[in-house]
Amino acid sequence: MEPVDQKLVSSWYDVQSVPQTFVQPPEKWPGKDIDVPLCKNIPVVDLRGPGWSRTIEQISEAIQEFGFFQVINHGVSKKLIDDTMNVSKDFHAMPRKDKETESSKDPSGRCKFYTSSENYANEEVHYWRDALVHPADSSENYMQYLPEKPTRYRQVVKAFMEEFRKLGSVILEMLAEGLGLNKDFFNGGLTENPTLMFNHYPLCPDPSLTLGLKAHRDASLISILLQDSEGLQVFKDGNWFGVEPISDAFVVNIGYAMQMISNSKFKGAEHRVVTNSRDARTTVAYFVYPTNETIIEPAKALCNPVNPPLYKSITFAEFIGHFYSTAADAEKLLKVLSLTE
Ligand code: OGA
Ligand code: NI
Repeated sequence: MEPVDQKLVSSWYDVQSVPQTFVQPPEKWPGKDIDVPLCKNIPVVDLRGPGWSRTIEQISEAIQEFGFFQVINHGVSKKLIDDTMNVSKDFHAMPRKDKETESSKDPSGRCKFYTSSENYANEEVHYWRDALVHPADSSENYMQYLPEKPTRYRQVVKAFMEEFRKLGSVILEMLAEGLGLNKDFFNGGLTENPTLMFNHYPLCPDPSLTLGLKAHRDASLISILLQDSEGLQVFKDGNWFGVEPISDAFVVNIGYAMQMISNSKFKGAEHRVVTNSRDARTTVAYFVYPTNETIIEPAKALCNPVNPPLYKSITFAEFIGHFYSTAADAEKLLKVLSLTE
């Protein structure tokens, strides 16, 4: 068993070379692709823009083409965005012991801090990131389980979670309408388990050998991401493209739960994170997840004899079981979820 110290990438800021356990197998090396072109075509949607129905069209088209879009004029203030980025950076800059203590207050274990992934112990190769994760629950009852350090953490993160809950609902209303469903289709259990994740990708001595996150699709309905610099890449038409960091914009993407509910009208896109040797990178990710007992299935209104349901009807807990047992491998997972194979 490695000492905990050595598990934390952030305590390696002075390493001169990539430790062997973090070197990806050659077929996964991002290699020269670290500096892939930015995808300039991913639509940037102005949420105060051309009117509700035009915006819905823009978003639906973006998802069908890229699985991704960015939003501006989303209603979250610049001050709150900056404060949230700063508490995230301050958290990850704390001594290891503090990070562990501050992330261990929730007796249910839903607030956690780890390096690489939750599955560190069983991974063959690790990823170059640390993550703090907890429910995006802004209730007074949950506040006591959130970190107290950095000092403004609870105050800032509570406000951020409240704003993101509202933003998530607006985007999901638009997606529901875009699919031809009732505006409130996603209200309730489908969206009542949102989760917040603070990712820290320390600078890496050799980014060509490592990944911050493997190529994956999210489990969520939608994910909303705040990123401070380049590193996120999306796979499109056989190539990797960078998702451009735009000041104060959020990146939105579709996950498996939405893919299943929409009966593949909206598909999740493969994405990954590369590291860099210039500076640490920080992101804040908000995942809209269903509660464990909620049934995930193609919306009945989208299915008919011409468009039969493509996916099984399962609880979100069952879905997550498959997500982990297939190591989130898209091909294997879709085989398990699919009705037609
Ligand atoms: C994720 C993710 C991207 C990033 O956490 O699922 O894709 O840039 N994050 O941190
Ligand atoms: Ni992701």
